[in-house]
Amino acid sequence: MASLKGGKPVPLMVKVSPDMTDHELRAAADTAMECGMAGIVATNTTISREGSLANYPESGGLSGRPLKERALNVLRVLHRHCGSTIPLIGVGGIGTAEDAYERIRAGASLVQIYTAMIYNGPYTAKSINLGLLDLMARDGFKSVSEVVGADSRKP
Ligand SMILES: Cc1cc2nc3c(=O)[nH]c(=O)nc-3n(C[C@H](O)[C@H](O)[C@H](O)COP(=O)(O)O)c2cc1C
Repeated sequence: MASLKGGKPVPLMVKVSPDMTDHELRAAADTAMECGMAGIVATNTTISREGSLANYPESGGLSGRPLKERALNVLRVLHRHCGSTIPLIGVGGIGTAEDAYERIRAGASLVQIYTAMIYNGPYTAKSINLGLLDLMARDGFKSVSEVVGADSRKP
């Protein structure tokens, strides 16, 4: 927590790039935890055009579906390293309840959507929330907190 003199504490989070190496991600996470940051947001847009991203020749940060697998992988790296020591916020290519569920199972306590909101409108959040309830009921989860990191607890 950071706070202005005499002011209320302000939660500060650090946001990581999907273009960081796993080693850089773990080092950034260590610093974030040492500094008492309130969370780590994974991820920002990518400037990489490696692999399938070569299909998007425009310059600048790429968001949305093409970013999904890399952002999910970054989250997995962070969750393996941090466990439940610090909240992780999953973002990057989330557009459906299945995407959000996958991200929460991979260790996200919260998810953020940006590009999907632009393409699908403000009801995206509602449809994701309703879909999440169905997916949780299907799998026998009673609360989102039970879902957080569930993949890493699989036998
Ligand atoms: C037009 C645009 C502007 C953005 N501006 C910011 C910004 O100012 N700060 C920031 O941390 N991330 C910014 N982002 C990144 C998003 O917050 C988000 O991390 C990224 O787009 C991946 O999520 P998405 O696939 O749901 O869009 C921006 C993304 C877009 C598309």
